[in-house]
Amino acid sequence: MSNLDRSNSAVSVRPLFEPFRTGRLELANRIVMAPMTRGFAPGGVPGADVADYYRRRAENGVGLIVTEGTLINHPAAAASPNWPNFHGEAALNGWARVVAGVHEAGGRIIPQLWHVGTTRKVGSQPNPEAPPIGPSGLDLTGGKVSEPLTETEIADIVAAFAQAAADAKRIGFDGIELHGAHGYLIDQFFWEKTNRRTDRYGGSLADRTRFAVEIIEACRRAAGPEFPIVLRFSQWKSNNYTAKLANTPDELEQFLVPLAAAGVDLFHCSTRRFWEPEFDGSDLNLAGWTKKLTGKPTITVGSVGLDAEFTKMYQGAGADPADLGGLLERLERGEFDLVAVGRALLHDPAWAAKVRDGRTDELLPFTLESTKTLY
Ligand SMILES: Cc1cc2nc3c(=O)[nH]c(=O)nc-3n(C[C@H](O)[C@H](O)[C@H](O)COP(=O)(O)O)c2cc1C
Repeated sequence: MSNLDRSNSAVSVRPLFEPFRTGRLELANRIVMAPMTRGFAPGGVPGADVADYYRRRAENGVGLIVTEGTLINHPAAAASPNWPNFHGEAALNGWARVVAGVHEAGGRIIPQLWHVGTTRKVGSQPNPEAPPIGPSGLDLTGGKVSEPLTETEIADIVAAFAQAAADAKRIGFDGIELHGAHGYLIDQFFWEKTNRRTDRYGGSLADRTRFAVEIIEACRRAAGPEFPIVLRFSQWKSNNYTAKLANTPDELEQFLVPLAAAGVDLFHCSTRRFWEPEFDGSDLNLAGWTKKLTGKPTITVGSVGLDAEFTKMYQGAGADPADLGGLLERLERGEFDLVAVGRALLHDPAWAAKVRDGRTDELLPFTLESTKTLY
């Protein structure tokens, strides 16, 4: 029996190590590093320590790295001076060094492009004078924090995403991921609680995708027809884990169809626990439904390789290594195509190599301390 046929369960890990291709995106295997914000970019510039951190994951067999959220060029995009920018010469040079290191190690990498919307507190660094912005100026509780965005302001933000896509291509990234999840700006347009607009950016669930559709189309124009575009979305919001955009498969389809038509190549379906059925009457998770409804490849995520979901860290708890059997069965069935791993890879750069080589006794627990170091 080869190492690939061994895992900590009876099921072979081989499906995780099959190559994958969609359009121009060719990956050595199915393991994706999930985007994880690290406050390690002083002044918004990712340095050599960040480049080494990502390079270690590529050296240890991660197929695709999605960077931490990195901010488009808009004054209210960030809520910390230590989150990396995706604009300005110094930050883009820093990212170019990250890309070079990952490519030298044989990996692939895409930046997660981010605007935090109204989750930003008034007066936040690095631009305390910039008011938080959102489709209707509402925060995630529905409270008013600013005026609704004007159409001109929306057009400027769309253009900033497109410029980031063009820059990503220019400095050698293998695609982009748009952060449309977790209650940040793009998701604030998706969610009825934060989008009360009565113009063409508001209305039905399908209408509320218009902002994202314009961003996808603008990124496509800026980076060309073959540049891979990933869209990350979620039902849950950072202040509300039971929130839903879509309550039924039919609603999910209404949401996804315009996004797929606009040019998304790969959907990254963010859940806390990958094994949970998304709707009654079927075992399919969110990535499974998304693949079935759009015909596009999907990435699943949520507690892969760990026995507790990431939200436990806010209560001070870590997580121990967990069996991969259920995940492997779903992957082998083709429910989804790729598997994103967050905390397990944050703590352990060698997670993928250990799984591949059957070194399961060497897998490490995730602790709260893990978030404080660039392992
Ligand atoms: C420290 C930390 C930072 C995160 N930052 C981001 C982020 O920048 N963008 C994002 O979409 N998700 C972010 N997430 C969510 C992860 O991408 C992932 O979806 C979540 O941790 C579940 O995967 P896991 O159970 O494998 O950790 C973050 C999670 C953690 C633990």
